[in-house]
Amino acid sequence: MSLRILICFHSGEGQTAKVVDRMREVLEAAGCEVVVSQAGDDPSPEGFDGVIVGDSIHAGQHSRALKRWIARHGDALDASPVALFQVSLTSADSDEEHTAEAQQMVSRLLDATGLDPDLVAMFAGAIAFTRYGWLKRRMMAKIAAERTGGAEPDTSHDIEYTDWDEVEHFARDALAVFQHAG
Ligand SMILES: Cc1cc2nc3c(=O)[nH]c(=O)nc-3n(C[C@H](O)[C@H](O)[C@H](O)COP(=O)(O)O)c2cc1C
Repeated sequence: MSLRILICFHSGEGQTAKVVDRMREVLEAAGCEVVVSQAGDDPSPEGFDGVIVGDSIHAGQHSRALKRWIARHGDALDASPVALFQVSLTSADSDEEHTAEAQQMVSRLLDATGLDPDLVAMFAGAIAFTRYGWLKRRMMAKIAAERTGGAEPDTSHDIEYTDWDEVEHFARDALAVFQHAG
């Protein structure tokens, strides 16, 4: 039987949207019907076999749009299997300290919203220089230099840290969770 899956997300500069596209491809190839919606469009999570929720981190925070959406649909999300993913620059470093920091950001979201996901993933995002305005580009170039301890990078190209195998793996794991729950 084909599963109906909702992917509800928020993306500041487009990397989370790219991650969502890849998940959609994996799930559709597995025969699922996938509805993709931005949190700001307020999709109803009712009537799906599973819900994937995704957001990126800015200034240590998840988006207000996603937090509001989770708060609005808490009961429906409690009744559904849920897989959550977070996209951040923190997860571009896989050492213990950065992993703990990324986990803390997930925990803060769960504490603030009461969301209780069956599966959680933390993906490295991107520094999307070509999608920033001047000020953000300068700020992110400094942050990129601090990360590497080297010179500021060429800002005419984006730097992508996302591990696409991890993203595909997560989509397949989410599908297994949803199938198991059904
Ligand atoms: C203004 C700004 C602030 C950011 N702040 C953080 C941060 O505090 N912690 C972090 O891990 N990543 C931070 N990032 C990195 C983003 O999480 C990363 O670029 C991610 O890929 C953004 O995904 P999106 O394009 O879907 O919004 C920041 C990025 C920008 C542009």
